[in-house]
Formats: sequence, C-alpha cells, structure tokens
Amino acid sequence: MRIIRAKDYDDMSRKAAAIIASQVIMKPNCVLGLATGSSPIGTYDNLVAGYEKGDLDFSGITTVNLDEYKGLPRDNDQSYYYFMNHHFFSRVNVNPERTFLPDGTETDSDKACRAYNEVIASVGGIDLQLLGLGHNGHIGFNEPGDVFEAQTHCVDLTETTIKANQRFFASIDDVPRQAYTMGIKTIMQAKKVLVVVSGKDKAAAVKATCFGPITPQVQGSILQLHNDVTIVADEAALSEI
Ligand code: GLP
Repeated sequence: MRIIRAKDYDDMSRKAAAIIASQVIMKPNCVLGLATGSSPIGTYDNLVAGYEKGDLDFSGITTVNLDEYKGLPRDNDQSYYYFMNHHFFSRVNVNPERTFLPDGTETDSDKACRAYNEVIASVGGIDLQLLGLGHNGHIGFNEPGDVFEAQTHCVDLTETTIKANQRFFASIDDVPRQAYTMGIKTIMQAKKVLVVVSGKDKAAAVKATCFGPITPQVQGSILQLHNDVTIVADEAALSEI
C-alpha cells in the first residue's frame, strides 16, 4: 500500500484528482470505478476544473459506481445517481450511456444484483477504482461481517453507517436501511485502487485498514492484499499511524 500524506482535504482532493487525471490521459477509454460520500467531492471538483481548462477529456470513459441505496429513485436528491450527476457527470463530457450504478428502484434484490454483475462483466474490468472509507472501515457498502462478499449484493446498513449518513437526510427515519453494493472480489479485481480519506474521525479506520489484521470486520483491510493501492489521506486521518 502506498500512503500519500496530504496536508488537508483540499490537498488530498488535488492529489487524488491528479492520479485519476493521469489514468484518463494515459487511457482515454478507461473504466473508472467511482464512489460517493463527502470524501471524493473535492476530487470531482478538481477533475471538473481540469475538464473546464481543456486538460481532460472524459468522452471515452466508462464509469461503474460502487453502490446505491435500495428504494431511492434517480431523481431523489439523496440517491447516489443524483450525487454523481450533480458532482460529476453533468459537469463534464462523460457519455451518460456509459455511466452505471446499481438500480435502486429494483425491489427484487437478486435481479438488481445479477443485472449489475452483468454490467460490470460487460465493461471488461475496472482500470481504477476510487474508494472512500467508512468509519467502521467499510468500502462501498460492504459492512463489517463474517465474510467478504464477492459480488454485488444487498446489504443491511449498520447503525453506525445509518447515523453517519443521517446528516444528508431530513431525519434518521428517511435513511434507507438497505443498499446494493459492489462486492469485494470486484473491487479487488480493479487494476488500481485509490482511497481518499480525510479527518480525525477516520484515523482509527485508516490504521485498521492499513495495518490491522485482514478481517471482514474491517472490510477495507483486504486492500492490504491488492498489489496497487494508493491511499491519499490528510494529516488528521493519518494521526494514529
Ligand atoms: C458511505 C458510502 C461509501 C463511503 C463512505 C464514507 O456510506 N457508501 O462509499 O466511502 O460511506 O463516506 P464519507 O466520505 O461521507 O465519509
């Protein structure tokens, strides 16, 4: 694991965007695995700035997102599709037909997960997967548990995650209790993984992910077994290392 120390959130975002930008420049038709949450917002802002300057062209890329809340339609402002559209897709020249997320409106979980696995297989593998890190070390919505789930699956969100994500909703009761998430095998099959982490409240999760035992209780710890992982973290997030 390569750990890159950033001064603060803005510095983290610039560095992470530079890594993604180099991927897009080197392979204009690459497949980017994308993430939501507060951590990557600044990264997307910097990529948009690169596009506006004329330095970056996203017209050839394909994107597959990590996860989506079950039950939220695309036009719900808390859906991850809405987030991606708002922070990235609508601001650059990505082809909307080449952007993929699990279908949150599909009530049949098996069907939704099977369909997303087929999408992932059809894009031919992820070149670079961007990840945030949950307070409990989750990646995507792969919550602590007894196993590493291989492929797309429906998860019951943990209380910690529901509380952490409550800030985006009108009340805790509005936070969906389930989500569809890409599995760990799919994430591990990405050629490169880029993790962005910021803030003191993530310091324990960063330490456990990078240096703790490899365990499904800290899903991010499996990344220790990947041979091309870059973690861009700010000083606060690295404060326990
Ligand atoms: C969310 C998302 C994850 C994200 C994580 C951290 O629940 N499903 O993909 O990485 O939690 O979010 P944040 O960056 O807002 O702290």
